Amino acid sequence: MRRVAIGLAIVVVVAACGSSPSTGTATTIVPGSGDVERGLVIYNGTCVACHGPGGMGVAGLGKPLTTSTFAAGLSDSELLTFLDIGRAADDPLNTTGIAMPSRGGNPSLSDADLMDVIAYLRTISG
Ligand code: HEC
Repeated sequence: MRRVAIGLAIVVVVAACGSSPSTGTATTIVPGSGDVERGLVIYNGTCVACHGPGGMGVAGLGKPLTTSTFAAGLSDSELLTFLDIGRAADDPLNTTGIAMPSRGGNPSLSDADLMDVIAYLRTISG
């Protein structure tokens, strides 16, 4: 009888924990939810080498992003897909013959990081 009581007590404690608010780490990517300030920091850490300060572009490396009608024409989630894949040098859409690496060549960038970069890109493209 005592064992049953202890067993029940454990069940109650586990159930109480299970009902506490979820603090799971899974991230849901919500278009338009990016953080511009964080995006700038990430841009300056990964993208600036080829695309230049403020997305002005660097001749022989990365195209200007300020005037990119390609980026402007994509939704946030489409741009995320583009950044995930990049654009190979032999891609028919490639105009420079230089590859745009997947995730800007920085595989440690998460989708949420890229969403922040996208939020930043929206502020520099006119
Ligand atoms: C190693 C150099 C390099 C890095 C780093 C890089 N890119 Fe690029 N990116 C390119 C090149 C080259 C192109 C142009 C490919 C072409 O000719 O179509 C490009 C194209 C793009 C385009 C499409 C522009 C258009 O008008 O077609 C976007 C958007 C873009 N890059 C965003 C980024 C972002 C955001 C990052 C950082 C996460 C980044 N790139 C990092 C080289 C780079």
